[in-house]
Formats: sequence, structure tokens, C-alpha cells
Amino acid sequence: MGDSKFTKTIACIGAGYVGGPTMAMIALKCPQYKVVVVDINAERIDAWNSEKLPIYEPGLYETVAQARGRNLFFSTDVEQAIFESEIIFVSVNTPTKTFGQGAGKAADLQYWEKTARNIVKIAKTDKIIVEKSTLPVRTAQAMDRILNANDNGVHFEVLSNPEFLAEGTAIADLEKPDRVLVGSQTTELGLKARDELVQVYANWVDKERILTTNVWSAELSKLVANAFLAQRISSINSISALCEKTEADVTEVSRAIGMDTRIGSRFLNSSVGFGGSCFKKDILNLVYIADSYGLHEVARYWEGVVNMNEYQKCRFVDNMIKVMFNTVADKRIALFGFAFKADTGDTRESPSIDVARQLIEEHAGVVITDPQAIENAKTDLADCLGSVEFARDPYEAAKGAHAIAIMTEWDEYRKLDYEKIISQMERPAFLFDGRNILDHKKLFELGFNVFPLGQPSLKHYE
Ligand code: UDX
Ligand code: ADP
Repeated sequence: MGDSKFTKTIACIGAGYVGGPTMAMIALKCPQYKVVVVDINAERIDAWNSEKLPIYEPGLYETVAQARGRNLFFSTDVEQAIFESEIIFVSVNTPTKTFGQGAGKAADLQYWEKTARNIVKIAKTDKIIVEKSTLPVRTAQAMDRILNANDNGVHFEVLSNPEFLAEGTAIADLEKPDRVLVGSQTTELGLKARDELVQVYANWVDKERILTTNVWSAELSKLVANAFLAQRISSINSISALCEKTEADVTEVSRAIGMDTRIGSRFLNSSVGFGGSCFKKDILNLVYIADSYGLHEVARYWEGVVNMNEYQKCRFVDNMIKVMFNTVADKRIALFGFAFKADTGDTRESPSIDVARQLIEEHAGVVITDPQAIENAKTDLADCLGSVEFARDPYEAAKGAHAIAIMTEWDEYRKLDYEKIISQMERPAFLFDGRNILDHKKLFELGFNVFPLGQPSLKHYE
């Protein structure tokens, strides 16, 4: 089984944002294992094998470079990887369904199921199958049925091991996770498989941080963790709207409530809206599950978190239009940032997508700048490329603009020379800080009309 110089062979199907970094960390920390990451997307695999990885993540390249070719391999040979491994992580994409029953809410499990059927077809020996993709509760059971309905005497044990890494901090999160969660069946084989996976993580994670639960708790905990995090953002965003009406300052409110140790200070930054591939998808999943069990009150409660996020994005654009004298037609508006958060090139569900589209609909001339996400932005706006410009350099983007909107909290936007920027802008010059990261008083003194979130605006006119 596998190469004799390794004690174990681990495969991962799906070389995306989760699979790639997670396996790189396992390979780095466990040189005694062979780790093979496979994907049907050959271009992606080529990129993983190159100097320019397919995703931008601080520290990822260094991590990959140390293990690649030693005990970490990227390949398109899915069959071989299934055949030779004892443990198979599955981290294929599970997007929200766009068709049929549950469209717009339920998870589309077709990639997962195809993978499971492929595993059954190829495997000749018993294997541990690890769910890494976020999946609706009870998926493991369905997978267990598909996998174990075979007559070649092979047994598959399905574990749920949700990943909690956040983009932009993936390497640090993987290296020092708050917890690792392993859900298993309580049968003898289930517990044996659980212990084997725990052993993998125990190579670098303290045993106290490795939590074992039943499969369903593990699956549900992942959805609930994301729902709670997103709920905090929607809660503070709802208060930002109230602050703007009452002259309270949302950053002061965040600070005041966050110092209560029962509440805690993290994830209380008001923003133009949360994005990312997980929050909306996972909450809608939770909503779908609750509805399907007849728990409509529970479903509506969580749906409110997503609705508030949509409201926040619309509110941001509505305000831009209102203060720019009710029209943005033919006005040049520079969006500073397109990634859904700083330190990533990922734009999935980024609030910038909706904001850009709404402004384009209003016939504004939209210019997008971002240090890492321009390529993804071009794909996201493929159907309206004629109405949008891209500039890698923020100074270029702002040249001749009527307004700047800060969309992503990139550190470099804090350090720009705004005096130089305003000197090349149309007047009156507007600045909308969708992340509250800039020094608003200073910008006002430079001549900007400044519109922060949840704080009084600073205007040079009545
Ligand atoms: C999230 C979870 O944090 C992670 O545990 C899970 O595995 C995947 O989903 P991620 O989406 O990568 O991670 O990033 P996260 O840092 O959670 O940010 C999500 C969104 O919320 C971003 O758009 C971010 O800008 C926004 N956000 C975050 C706020 O608007 N305010 C905050 O205070 C924090
Ligand atoms: P995540 O953010 O959850 O990691 P991504 O979309 O970044 O999701 O990655 C999922 C990866 O899974 C993609 O690169 C996709 O090509 C791959 N994938 C989907 N289906 C299969 C399959 N049947 N076999 C191998 N890889 C697959």
C-alpha cells in the first residue's frame, strides 16, 4: 500500500481554498505521510505545481514549497490517489443549488456524490472518508449508504472533520487551530477511524484542542459557527444604520459592548456587508434544514441574518446616490478593494460585486482597484466589462473620480497619500468608507466629504 518510505498515504479530492492549504499543513507537519492532492481541474493542479499558486494566501507558498515533491504531491490522477490511500479527505465544492428543489438555499451535493461513487468504483481496500467540505447535517449518513452499498467487501468509514480556517489567515489558523473537530459513529469501526484521524492532527495540535463528537454534531457545529459569526456582523451592521440616524458612533458602541467579556470584542466591525464563500451559503443551508423539519420560526430567525446583510449593501449604495445629489450617472467612482476581505484574492460573495453592479445600473463609471483580486473581479463582472475599468494602482483608479468607496480593508489603503489623491479628483470629492479604516477627520481636512459607516458624516456643505 503506497510508497514504502511513508507510514501512511493520505489523499485529498478537491484542490481548492480548503483542500490545498489544509493538506499542505498536514504534509509539512507529518513528513512520515505521503499526501496527494487531486483535482479534475488540470489548470488548478498545474498552478499548485508552479511558482504561482492558484490562490493567494499569506505564508501558503512557503508552506507548500517546503513539502512539495518531498511528501506533498498535486495531481489530476484522482483514481490513483483513491486507490493508494488509507484516508481520503473530500473537499470538493458544495455550492448553493441553483436549480430544482431547494434552489437558492440547499447545498448542491452533486460533486460530493459523484466523488463518493468514484471512490466506490476504484477502492480495493477499506478506507476512511473524511468530509472536509461544509455539508448539510446528515450528509455523512447519505454518503455512508452510497459508499457501503457495494459488493466487493470494502468498508468505508465516514468521518466529519469540518474546517474552520478563515481566508487571509489560513496558515496561522491551520497551524494553531482553536479546535479540531472530528465527528464519528460510535461503533467500534467508527471509533477506530476517529482515533486514526485524531492521530494525524496530534502530530502538531494539542490533544485538548481535538474535540470528538458524533457525526451530526460535527456537521451541524460548522454551520452554527458560521451562522453565529455572521450574526454578529449583521447585528452590528443593523446598529450602524441606527447610529447614522442618532449621531451615535458604531465604533464606540462596538468597543463599549465588546469589552464585556461575555460578548467579546471580535467580529464586531461594522462593514458594507460580509462576503465569502461560507457565511451566506451555510446560513441558507441552516434555513433550508430548519424549514424542512417544519421549524419555520427557527428558519426565519436565521434568514434575518442574511436579509440584514443584503440591506446593508443596498443601504450603502442608496446613501452614495443620495449624497451625490441623487445621481451618479456619468460620475467616475473608484472602488478600493474587490476581495471579500483583506489578504485574499477571493471575491466569492464579495459585497463589492453587488455594489459595483448597482452603480453600473445607475450608469456610473466604475473603476476597480485591488492588490490581488482584479482577475477574479473581471470574471465576476464578465457580463458588464464594457461599463467598468480596472486599475492595479489606486492612484490611477482615483484619477478624475468624483468618489472613492473603500470596499476591502487592505492595509495599503490606510497608508495612501490622500492629499495627492484628492488633488487629482473632481470636486466636490466624496469618500465612502465601507470598512471604517481611514482617519476621517484628516480626510475631511484635506477637503473630502467623508461618509463613514455608523458615524456622523463630515461635509463641507449643508
Ligand atoms: C469564515 C469563518 O470565519 C471560518 O471559520 C470558516 O471556516 C469559513 O468562513 P472567511 O469567510 O474566510 O471565514 O472569513 P471571515 O474572516 O470570517 O470574514 C467573513 C466576512 O465577514 C468578510 O467579508 C469580512 O470582511 C466580514 N467581517 C468580518 C465583517 O464585516 N466584520 C467583522 O467584524 C468581521
Ligand atoms: P472550497 O472553497 O470549499 O475549497 P473550491 O471551489 O475552492 O471550494 O474547491 C473545490 C475544488 O473541487 C475545485 O477545484 C473543483 O475542481 C474540485 N472538484 C469538484 N468536483 C471534483 C471531483 N469529482 N473530483 C476532483 N475534484 C473535484
